[in-house]
Amino acid sequence: MHALDPASPAGALDAARDDALAAIAAAADLDALVALRPAVLGDRSPVALARRGLGSLPGPDRAEAGRRVNAVVTALTAAYDARRAVLQDERDARVLVEEAVDVTALPGRLPVGARHPLTTVQERAVDAFVAMGWEVAEGPEVEHEWFNFDALNFPKDHPAREMQDTLFVAPEGSGLVLRTHTSPVQVRTLLSRELPVHVVAPGRVYRADALDATHSPVFAQLEGLCVDEGITMAHLRGTLDAFAVAMFGPGMRTRLRPSFFPFTEPSAELDLQCFHCLGRSAEPGGEPCRVCSSEGWIEVGGCGMVNPAVLVAAGVDPERYSGFAFGMGLDRTLMFRHGATDIRDFYEGDQRFTLPFGLEA
Ligand code: DAH
Repeated sequence: MHALDPASPAGALDAARDDALAAIAAAADLDALVALRPAVLGDRSPVALARRGLGSLPGPDRAEAGRRVNAVVTALTAAYDARRAVLQDERDARVLVEEAVDVTALPGRLPVGARHPLTTVQERAVDAFVAMGWEVAEGPEVEHEWFNFDALNFPKDHPAREMQDTLFVAPEGSGLVLRTHTSPVQVRTLLSRELPVHVVAPGRVYRADALDATHSPVFAQLEGLCVDEGITMAHLRGTLDAFAVAMFGPGMRTRLRPSFFPFTEPSAELDLQCFHCLGRSAEPGGEPCRVCSSEGWIEVGGCGMVNPAVLVAAGVDPERYSGFAFGMGLDRTLMFRHGATDIRDFYEGDQRFTLPFGLEA
């Protein structure tokens, strides 16, 4: 572009203007036009330099030169704006064509998620109790030893309190453990709710077990607690039978075998009739059953009458109230129900395993 002296003949200014107009007209797109702006109308453009030189001209010449410079600036600005409008229209028209939406195109499919099988079985179990008028209770997974052991009548030297069974929370002496069962929720419930209570507490529990096909350091339990006046073992039995039917169908039965837990007296192991062979594999001449190893029963947990020592620890008068409790492993129930052979599948989060479960209603 021509450098311009305002005192120079009008032709030089006209030449600079014509150069600039030609460049504006030649700008092929908006980017090119914008890039051109400093050279055409910017601080160091010929017209800007010419305007700056006006001050050194004698008065009469200055007025005339000023008018000419202004006319050129006006012409260039108008040309620039007009060109920009044209290029913008062109771009808008092009975008409209290039970015048109094909409304007939098939959309890509988002994979549909599924709920985890442990969640589904837990909900189903909880629903069975809620249908009987029970409520849901919760407790923390990082639990105080007092709730996890002491209040549940575990002696100070009970082996379950040792490092090889229980995961302790640092620092040493914190008094905190990862709860080893859902039973501490019994104590929390009795301390925080009005009697009578009928609650189920599903949740994750932790033990210092090595991971293999049948053991996992984290697994799922369902705890139950009923405390009221005049509660007997018959209530426990009836409740468990009703639950078994709700979970696995009509005719399903439970069996209690004598056992021991510090927090129940008397205590029992809870067996569920094998829902695969319905106990027939254990009868003379029955077909072998791989689900229950032809035992006819599957061990799912423990239960019993709440030990009065637990009621006392939770501030409940054992002379007036009695109760029953139970705790069962949801993983085992689920493994049996679906013939799953490896508990690790429940915790590894591989969708190829969990997706088909999520599809059930
Ligand atoms: N907490 C026991 C366990 O994890 C299971 C259990 C047994 C829970 C008897 C109970 C019960 O509520 O009454 O092995």
